[in-house]
Amino acid sequence: MPVDKLTIPMPDDWHLHLRDGDMLAAVLPATARDFGRAIVMPNLKPPVTTAAAAGAYRERIRALLPAGSDFEPLMTCYLTDNTDPADLRAGAAAGIFTAAKLYPAGATTNADAGVTAVGKLQPVLECMQDIGLPLLIHGETTDPAVDVFDREAVFIDATLAPLRRDFPALKIVLEHITTREGVQFVEAAPGPTAATITPHHLMINRNAMFERGIRPHMYCLPVAKREVHRQALRAAAVSGNPRFFLGTDSAPHLRTAKEHDCGCAGMFNAPCALACYAQVFDEEGRLERLEGFASRFGAAFYGLPVHQRTVTLVKTGGEPPADDWPTPLGPVRVFAPADSLRWRRLAA
Ligand code: NCD
Ligand code: ZN
Repeated sequence: MPVDKLTIPMPDDWHLHLRDGDMLAAVLPATARDFGRAIVMPNLKPPVTTAAAAGAYRERIRALLPAGSDFEPLMTCYLTDNTDPADLRAGAAAGIFTAAKLYPAGATTNADAGVTAVGKLQPVLECMQDIGLPLLIHGETTDPAVDVFDREAVFIDATLAPLRRDFPALKIVLEHITTREGVQFVEAAPGPTAATITPHHLMINRNAMFERGIRPHMYCLPVAKREVHRQALRAAAVSGNPRFFLGTDSAPHLRTAKEHDCGCAGMFNAPCALACYAQVFDEEGRLERLEGFASRFGAAFYGLPVHQRTVTLVKTGGEPPADDWPTPLGPVRVFAPADSLRWRRLAA
């Protein structure tokens, strides 16, 4: 009997962009509906680089939560060349920081203030290893001479492998992996190593950006790769290996900012991310493994409890792909599979 209904503990999103102000208010309900917690990325303008700034951002998020929601935002510190290990330590001790994010300077949206050389983080990484604060990495080299499709693989060899060796007890998450090389690194790496995988990288390959024309809504960073890489990501996601878990990288930009001479990187998938993951696991014949990927492995890596409450997903006849998401600033295009969404969450 094919499974058409699935109940799992409330999932968490271990990589999310919520933005601020009107955009935050508009997109937060989409995540708060389907996820119990989320690791909130700090790449605001200006970036969230101190415990005080992260605490204030957390309050702005909490103030906008729908009535009765017990969604929990987990805050991250945006690492720079000047991050103060004492502030990081104090922020972690106060329960403000759950992790810290390493953006190589200039690697992606609002990453200009990121780290110019990982060597500059020596005292910060020693502190994080000491207190058990996870390091979340945007794993792409910023060397303009490196082909954009090779930037993850080059970063792994040149930067991540030595980092993994030098800080053997540091918890490391390679965020939004997009390559077979990323999968292989995470499978084989010594020490506490994990990766998040997005719904879009499970569903599209790089052809989607060029289908009968240029498709700015299919552009994100790291950019989607060849089909062999998508297949490697799908195999990793459904493998049951607890090193791979859910992180949507939902990253809203206004349609006007994407449909532009220099369109922004990022896809907004929060409204149907959970349905997309269910669809992928179903297509792979591994629905029974969605629970680990979505609700258990990330919590275990971060040392947090699994949620008591549950969500139920049902398989439908197939609904048309999602539409635009309205915000006071203008519409945001929602990422969804091209044909139809075959799963949806039963209303709580
Ligand atoms: C993200 C954003 O818009 O903040 N964009 C993206 O393409 N994923 C930044 C990031 O995670 O790289
Ligand atoms: Zn991201």
